[in-house]
Amino acid sequence: MNKSFWKNKKVLITGDTGFKGAWMSLVLSEAGAKIQGLSSSKFNKNIELYDCLKIRSITNTVDADIRDQEKVFKTFVDFQPELVFHLAAQPLVRESYIDPVTTYEVNLMGTLNILEAIRSSSSVKSAIMVTTDKCYENNEWDWGYRETDPLGGHDPYSSSKGCAELLIKSYQKSFFHNPLKSSGVSSVRAGNVIGGGDFSQDRLIPDLYRSIDQKSKLFLRNPFATRPWQHVFEPISGYICVAENLYNSGSEGNDSWNFGPHIADIKTVKEISELFCASWEINQVIEFNSDVDQLHEAQSLSLDISKAFHRLNWQPKWSVEDSIHKTAMWYKSYHHKEDVLSLSISQIQEYFSN
Ligand SMILES: NC(=O)c1ccc[n+]([C@@H]2O[C@H](COP(=O)([O-])OP(=O)(O)OC[C@H]3O[C@@H](n4cnc5c(N)ncnc54)[C@H](O)[C@@H]3O)[C@@H](O)[C@H]2O)c1
Repeated sequence: MNKSFWKNKKVLITGDTGFKGAWMSLVLSEAGAKIQGLSSSKFNKNIELYDCLKIRSITNTVDADIRDQEKVFKTFVDFQPELVFHLAAQPLVRESYIDPVTTYEVNLMGTLNILEAIRSSSSVKSAIMVTTDKCYENNEWDWGYRETDPLGGHDPYSSSKGCAELLIKSYQKSFFHNPLKSSGVSSVRAGNVIGGGDFSQDRLIPDLYRSIDQKSKLFLRNPFATRPWQHVFEPISGYICVAENLYNSGSEGNDSWNFGPHIADIKTVKEISELFCASWEINQVIEFNSDVDQLHEAQSLSLDISKAFHRLNWQPKWSVEDSIHKTAMWYKSYHHKEDVLSLSISQIQEYFSN
């Protein structure tokens, strides 16, 4: 991260009230950026981190639904951002089975509104559109998906993000291409992120924290499923790297990028849970619950990160053990009502220092 680049840069972050958005806001604010947030209070289902890191004082969040084109455009006109990170989404697989229509509306049409606002803006030079590792057609391969592999998605969430990828690609080719427009727009695909302060439903670490907090058993749905777990700072550092490059290269740099862990760090759900409890030094009872409604979820999923390594000189910094340790320390501190803002800033400094 080039801190001098970010000093006084005007950055719009959608989804700033969520898990990744709150961390992104704190990281960029620590680097001196001026940030405007845009999130919908109706969808603030994971807002604890935003509150305890006092992100509102950094991002001055506009309460807007990204499906509301008028409000989205007004935010762009009022703030005149130079860089955009689009993270707002309905991000949960199981919720997408319950409400597929809202999932597609937010993840596809909401993304369309953000792209349209970028298209009509004269200030935006660099835009990062956050999708997911689940945007690929999942063939349960043992090897990682490359950026050129076919898009797809079995469940409505994954499919909505695959659709968003196709939309972004169309806009890159149709509207964000020199000499039409010099703004650079890239999509970024990362896997399951961990880190302090995620309290979302149906995610492993939040479920594990709640079971510790409530002194109840943890039931795992898919103990042997593997996911590309990584600390939230890893994709954030990748997004930042792409954003800096795009700012300088404009539409020449339009692309899509994977950010994931090294192969050796890809672990099962069960292994991650055990590492977390070992870091916390707690004997948590963990059981496999085969009775739970088994909606389809991929068993095996990993990303090939060779492109980011060769072209951006990006690679993960923390091993899975380090990442889980930092995460467990954050939740333990939160559990004991300690000062998590100071801890969060010191974790940022540790990760982003050269
Ligand atoms: N957390 C992960 O493991 C993970 C993995 C892969 C991809 N992602 C992607 O990263 C992004 C951020 O995920 P997260 O984990 O921080 O999610 P989160 O649920 O913590 O936050 C979602 C954010 O989006 C906002 N939002 C939702 N619907 C909105 C709407 N209609 N209008 C405006 N704002 C709206 C919410 O207010 C919140 O700020 C998403 O695009 C998600 O798909 C997350």
